[in-house]
Amino acid sequence: MNRIYFDHAATTPIDPAVAETMTEAMLRYTGNPSSIHNEGRTARAAVERARKTVADSLGASIGEIFFTSGGTESNNMALKCAVRDLGVRRIISSPLEHHAVLHVLDRLRDEGSVEVEHVKLDDKGRVDMEDLQRLLQESDKKTLVSLMYANNEIGTMLNMEAVGELCKSHGALFHSDTVQTIGYFPIQLSELNVSFMTGSAHKFYGPNGVGFIYINADNIVKPYIDGGAQERNMRGGTENIAGIIGMAKALEIAQQEMDSRREKIEEVRQYLRESLEAAFEDIEFNGDPDGGHYKVLSVSFPPSPKADMLLLSLDIAGISVSGGSACSSGADAGSHVIAALKGDSPRKTIRFSFSHHNTREEVDTVIAKLQEILPVKAAAEG
Ligand SMILES: Cc1ncc(COP(=O)(O)O)c(C=O)c1O
Repeated sequence: MNRIYFDHAATTPIDPAVAETMTEAMLRYTGNPSSIHNEGRTARAAVERARKTVADSLGASIGEIFFTSGGTESNNMALKCAVRDLGVRRIISSPLEHHAVLHVLDRLRDEGSVEVEHVKLDDKGRVDMEDLQRLLQESDKKTLVSLMYANNEIGTMLNMEAVGELCKSHGALFHSDTVQTIGYFPIQLSELNVSFMTGSAHKFYGPNGVGFIYINADNIVKPYIDGGAQERNMRGGTENIAGIIGMAKALEIAQQEMDSRREKIEEVRQYLRESLEAAFEDIEFNGDPDGGHYKVLSVSFPPSPKADMLLLSLDIAGISVSGGSACSSGADAGSHVIAALKGDSPRKTIRFSFSHHNTREEVDTVIAKLQEILPVKAAAEG
């Protein structure tokens, strides 16, 4: 049975061209990039070429890109370094952030390092810009705003330019978790006022366990991982050469194919949206289905006898979706994003997230299976 994978916000399958590039890199770059001999220098040059690819794709300079183990580490680094090294004492964020931000903020607050405030959101999860301005005006404490570019569960997006400008005019730093948008939307850092931005290769058809952080050159922070002098002293440890090269390759392809991939994804997503509306009564699309990330469609269904086992039933039928974000424990613990937006609701949520490989036929199969599990519209019965 060919499985249907509609969970590309959790992770994307590696692009075979990326896997091939990585295999070649593993065999070719045998030296330690910190060694001064030929093998070392050759490996160093490859890592630096990858850094240039990443920097160029974002309009950053190479000195502003640091390789990490992924989005979680990058978010930790941004927030913890800003507090430790840049005097940040107040962070304005939102309850819809990924746990890689939320749990860092909890820790920083519990340690007494910062106060954390939440900006008002509308029912689609969009930031209330007036409230953000009010919060920025309200205090003289050194403030950082941490708001994600696109939400991984509901797709709602942030106006990066407007938030960046607001932060600039109030002397605040701006961190954005851009993990879901790197490779999907063009980002030109020269046009944005962003202090920290984060990326993760496995969200754009690259390998797991490798990512990057952009740290604007104005922000001088101290080493995050002590050890060797790798990553310009910021992160000790021998580099994940193949991972870094694979990430750069994946990003290069994502940049080249951004428009054609987007077109394919939007078509399938729209088809699913219409098919769901035609087949089921009283469904709600969470977030901002018209203005959000084109990769995500979050839908909630009214309670019904078999809805509790929805994700499991779909999985057994060969269909992979998720309820919210991918949970590290493997359990479906419910979604903090949906809870923050809608409170304690008995409705069942499915997050569909797409790739350019998904098809309308797959949507038809998913709809047919859902019709077996959930009550269908009277007109669609039979
Ligand atoms: C918005 C967002 N931030 C951060 C992360 C964490 O990234 P990583 O899995 O590379 O640690 C994810 C991945 O689930 C994400 O969707």
